[in-house]
Amino acid sequence: MARLLVIHGPNLNLLGTREPQIYGKINLATIDQRLAAAAKARGHDLECFQSNAEHELINRVQRAQADGIEFIIINPAGYTHTSVALRDALAAARIPFIEVHLSNIYAREPFRKNSYFSDLAVGIISGLGAHGYELALDAACGQLAAQKP
Ligand code: DQA
Repeated sequence: MARLLVIHGPNLNLLGTREPQIYGKINLATIDQRLAAAAKARGHDLECFQSNAEHELINRVQRAQADGIEFIIINPAGYTHTSVALRDALAAARIPFIEVHLSNIYAREPFRKNSYFSDLAVGIISGLGAHGYELALDAACGQLAAQKP
């Protein structure tokens, strides 16, 4: 059994109604319930956290090690393109993470092409909608299984 943490950045609390043509019609509670159930079915414990505040996201990452979190799945949302501070928190935590975006950030405005997280991430999933979180969980479970005898 491992503990996994899913972190959602700003405005992702609005999923379902926020620009559904870009981000889809599934709301965040549904995404989180599906992930928790999928993790449980694989014998893991998964917690989800969303905040619109940069410092809250940083505080959650800082607590992760003490909480025994072994893997993080994160969609930094708008902070993807701006937050050196959240990047630094993940670098300091030294917990492997996968970066997820619902939309394909490389097929949108030029300012979305830069991520402060991608070079630190184990991998990136972008453009596959909510399914991307499930793919990330599958990959995380595979990585965790490979680490443990
Ligand atoms: C996003 C892409 C970001 O550019 C944007 O600011 C978001 C969501 C995505 O999931 O596609 O808020 O991270």
